[in-house]
This record gives sequence, C-alpha cells and structure tokens, in this order.
Amino acid sequence: MSEATTGRSVLITGGNRGIGLAIAKAFLANGDKVAITSRSEVTDLPAGILAVKADVTDEASVDAAFKEVEAAHGPVEVLVANAGITKDTLLLRMSEDDFTSVLDTNLTGAFRVLKRASKGMIRLKKGRVVLISSVVGLYGSPGQINYASSKSGLVGMARSLTRELGARNITANVVAPGYVNTEMTDVLPEETKDQYMKAIPAGRFCEPEEIANVVRWVASDEASYISGAVIPVDGGLGMGH
Ligand SMILES: NC(=O)c1ccc[n+]([C@@H]2O[C@H](COP(=O)([O-])OP(=O)(O)OC[C@H]3O[C@@H](n4cnc5c(N)ncnc54)[C@H](OP(=O)(O)O)[C@@H]3O)[C@@H](O)[C@H]2O)c1
Repeated sequence: MSEATTGRSVLITGGNRGIGLAIAKAFLANGDKVAITSRSEVTDLPAGILAVKADVTDEASVDAAFKEVEAAHGPVEVLVANAGITKDTLLLRMSEDDFTSVLDTNLTGAFRVLKRASKGMIRLKKGRVVLISSVVGLYGSPGQINYASSKSGLVGMARSLTRELGARNITANVVAPGYVNTEMTDVLPEETKDQYMKAIPAGRFCEPEEIANVVRWVASDEASYISGAVIPVDGGLGMGH
C-alpha cells in the first residue's frame, strides 16, 4: 500500500447505515481519516469515524458539514456521494413531488456535495469522486422512473466532471450496485425479491462490503487512470447496460 493512498480526508454522504457505512469502514481500515454525514444523530459508529449532520437537499447544511470535516480532517480529498432514497410507484401514480424529491436527494444532492468538495480538491491539486448510482440507472425498472432518472444522471455528472477537472489530478467515477442487502431493499415485496434473484447470474444478492471494496479501490492510487467509468457491481444483472 503506497503512503499516498492512506491518511486522506474522506467524506461519505449517508454513511450511518447500509452501503455508506460499509464504505466508511473500508476507508477506515485503509488508514484514512473518515467522516460520514447523517440526517439524524448517530451513536453506534465504529471508533474513528467522525459523524456530522447534513441533509443533502439543503445547501447550507452541506456547507456546515464540510466546514466541520475540514476543521477536523482537512480538505476533503475523497468524496463518496452515497445518500439516496427511493419512492417507487408506477408512472401513472407518480406525483410530481415523488419525482422531484427523489431527484433532489439523489442527483441534486450529489451536485451540492460535489460542488462544495471541488473547491478544496482544486486547491489540493488532487481528488477522487465516487458517485453511487445503481444498475437501474442504465437497465431501467418499472416503478422507478424517478429513481432511474436520478441514477443515470450521475453518469453524465461524473463524465462531465472528468472532462472539466480531469487534467487537475481529479477522477470521477460511478459505481453501479445491483441488488444489495440493506434497509432499502429489505422493504421490497417478496415477489420483487424473487424476480431479482432469478435475473441475477451470480444467484445471490450483494453484501454492502462488496460495494465498499470497489469504491475504496477506485479511489486508490491503483485506479489513478480510471475516470468517467461506470463500474457495475451487480453479479452480472445489468450486463451490456
Ligand atoms: N441497496 C441496494 O440494493 C442499492 C442498489 C443500488 C444502489 N443503491 C444506492 O446506494 C446508496 C445507499 O443505499 P443503501 O441501500 O445503503 O440505502 P439505505 O440503507 O436506505 O441508506 C440510505 C442512506 O442515505 C441517507 N440519506 C437519504 N436521504 C438523505 C438526505 N436527504 N440527506 C442526507 N442523507 C440522506 C440515509 O440517511 P438517514 O439514515 O438519515 O435516512 C442513509 O444513510 C443509495 O444511493 C442507493 O440508491 C442501493
């Protein structure tokens, strides 16, 4: 492990549970200085992870969270935009609020943290951005027009950032998980779970740690020439998409 890939200031949005928490633990094990955001108070995080409050739909709260992290750990060098929500329903029943609220968290929320982080990365002359998308962003999914739109938007975001800031030693990549065992998928109907299971070549669902390992790697020096990529971690579910 090279010295350059440890000890960095890492920020993960929505890191109090699920995939975000697994990502936080992976960076902590790597020797980085890890901060997570959560909307509510968190008390049971592993020692060494700094928790700051932030709602990614609120620019002022994002700014306050960054200030806290910068004071404790220095400018954010690795940003993982992970916070996300679903509000699944078929198009005919989907209200405009169902659509815009999911976009506001998943896509505009990523924009808010990315914009705030980019200033520090430009000054540092280095940075790693990882946007957590979904297989659904490019594969599509009935009942998820809001969610899929938000997740495919992250691809354009990472690629445009790569073109804008790629020459400044900043990479931006998308990790696209398939079906991962977390609270988000726990609430899905059994029938939907069965359908996914039948469609996944790996024949099993993913554990959050399997996403976290890829995020940690794509933010490492080993992945220094990868930018604008969409990396599927889905057991083959989305092949070709
Ligand atoms: N699970 C899967 O199968 C799967 C598959 C593909 C992609 N993903 C994506 O992976 C990411 C993490 O998913 P997960 O399964 O770990 O979900 P999860 O267990 O539901 O956790 C979601 C996280 O996002 C945070 N969050 C939601 N809205 C927020 C907001 N407005 N401001 C700040 N934080 C907010 C939550 O914070 P609170 O605790 O405060 O609510 C929580 O930490 C999401 O972007 C999701 O779309 C998940």
